[in-house]
Amino acid sequence: MNSPLKKPQHPPAPAVQKCIAGDCAAEYEINEPIYACRKCGGTLEVDCRVEALSDLAALRQKWQARAMSNDPRDGSGVWRYREVLPFAADAPIVTLFEGNTPLYDAPKCANYAGLASLTLKHQGTNPTGSFKDTGMTTAVTQAVILGARAIVCASTGNTAASLAAYAARANVKCVVLLPENQVSPAKLAQSMDYGAIILEVAGNFDDCMHLTHELSDIPWIYVANSINPFRIEGQKTVAYELMSHCDWQVPDHVVVPGGNMGNSSALGKGFEEMRRMGLIDRVPKLSIVQAEGAAPLARHFSSLARPGSESEKSHVAKIETVADPRTLATAIRIGAPVSWKKALSAVLRSHGEIIAVTERELADAKAMIGLEGIGCEPASAATVAGIKKLVAQGKIHKDESVVGILTGHVLKDPDYVSHYHRGTLSFDAGASGSGEKASLIPGGFRNSPVRVAATKEAIVKSLQRGS
Ligand code: F0G
Repeated sequence: MNSPLKKPQHPPAPAVQKCIAGDCAAEYEINEPIYACRKCGGTLEVDCRVEALSDLAALRQKWQARAMSNDPRDGSGVWRYREVLPFAADAPIVTLFEGNTPLYDAPKCANYAGLASLTLKHQGTNPTGSFKDTGMTTAVTQAVILGARAIVCASTGNTAASLAAYAARANVKCVVLLPENQVSPAKLAQSMDYGAIILEVAGNFDDCMHLTHELSDIPWIYVANSINPFRIEGQKTVAYELMSHCDWQVPDHVVVPGGNMGNSSALGKGFEEMRRMGLIDRVPKLSIVQAEGAAPLARHFSSLARPGSESEKSHVAKIETVADPRTLATAIRIGAPVSWKKALSAVLRSHGEIIAVTERELADAKAMIGLEGIGCEPASAATVAGIKKLVAQGKIHKDESVVGILTGHVLKDPDYVSHYHRGTLSFDAGASGSGEKASLIPGGFRNSPVRVAATKEAIVKSLQRGS
C-alpha cells in the first residue's frame, strides 16, 4: 500500500545494520540483504540513531494524535511510530493495521500471583491473532523494498500464519517450514487459507530453523525469522505503544514468554531506545518465562555466577541447547533459540530474570487468565505463571507495577483448552523432562460441560446442584 505522503516534520533517523558483537560492531548499509555479520558471523541489529530525534514532547503528542487520524499509516500501531523505524517516508508499507492492542486490568490474576494489581497487554488481538504481526509488517515491507521473489520462515505456527497473511497482502510467494505434527491445527489452517506453500518437515522447530539458515544464501529468497532485524524493528514498537498507553510512566516489571527470543529482544531494544532518547528515564525490569521442558536460556541464566559483572555474563559464546524440547505450549517448543544473545543482554541490562515454569503451572495460569474474560493461547500464560513464581521468590514485590505480555489468542489452540477443562490434558515429558512423565495434568480450575436432558426441570435441577 502506498500512502499519500507529506514532508515529515520528524524524518526517520538515518539507520544502519550493525553487528551486535561489541568487539566487531561492523556496520552495513540498511538495504543490504544480509542476516549475519560478514566479518564475524555475529547477529545483526538495526541501529536507528534515535538520539538524533529532538523535541520529544511534540513527538509524543504526534504519536498520540495519529491514533485519531485516517491516514492508513497512522491506523497501524506499528507505523504510527515511524520516526523510530528504519524506512524512508515513501516506503511501500504492507500493513493489516497491526498493533493497537489493549491493556487489561487483571485483578483475579493479580490475586492469584500475589500482587496488588496486574496489567496484561494482549498481543493476541493482532490481525492474525499473535504478536508476530507487529514484526511481519516491517519484515515484509523490507522484502518488497529488496524485490524478494519468495519469503521463507521456520515456525511453530504463529510466525507462519503471520508471514502467510502479510506475503499475501504484498503478493509475494510465501514458504513456511513447520515441524510435522507439532503445530496446532488452527495455526496450520491459517497458513493454508492465506495461500502459503506449507512444507511439513520431519523434524522439530530447531531443524526447520537450521534449514532456513541454509536457504538464506539463495539471493531471491528473503528470510523472515527473528534473525531478521527488520522483524525486531516492528516488534520493538510494542514497547513504545505500551509506554504511550501508560502515559510514559515506566512500570517496574515487564514479563514475557520466551521461545526463539525475538520478542524479548525486541521489547528490550524498544525500552533501551526510549531511554537513550530521553523519552523515559529508566527501563522496566524485563523478565522472560520459558516452559520447563524447553528452557535452555532459563537454565543458562540460573547457572551464571552471581554476583558478577553484567558484561562478563553476557559474553558467553554459546548456551547448552535442548535436543528434544517438550511442552504442550507448542509455540515455545524450542531448544535452540536463535536470538538468545540479544534477549540475555536485554534482561541483564534491565536486572530482570529468566525462569522456567512447569506444565501444570502454565495450564492453571492460562485458565486463570480465561476467568478474567481474556482468552490467550498456552504459551502466553507463561507470563502469569512466571509472575506468580517471581512474586513467590521475592523477585517481584506485591505493590510493584507489573505488565504481562500475552502473545497469542485463545483460538490458536482450542484443543488444549478443551482438554484442560475436561481433565484430559496429558503431557509426555520425554527424556528432557522434569519428572512430569506422560501424565494427566489435574487442572485446578476445570470447567467441564454438563450433560442435561432437554427439559426445563433438568436444567433447573442441574443449576441447583451447581449452586
Ligand atoms: N508466544 C507465542 C504465542 C509464540 O508464537 C511464540 C513464538 C512465543 C510466545 C515466543 O516468542 O520466539 O519471540 O521468544 N512463536 C514462534 C513461531 C517461534 O514460529 O510462531 P519468541
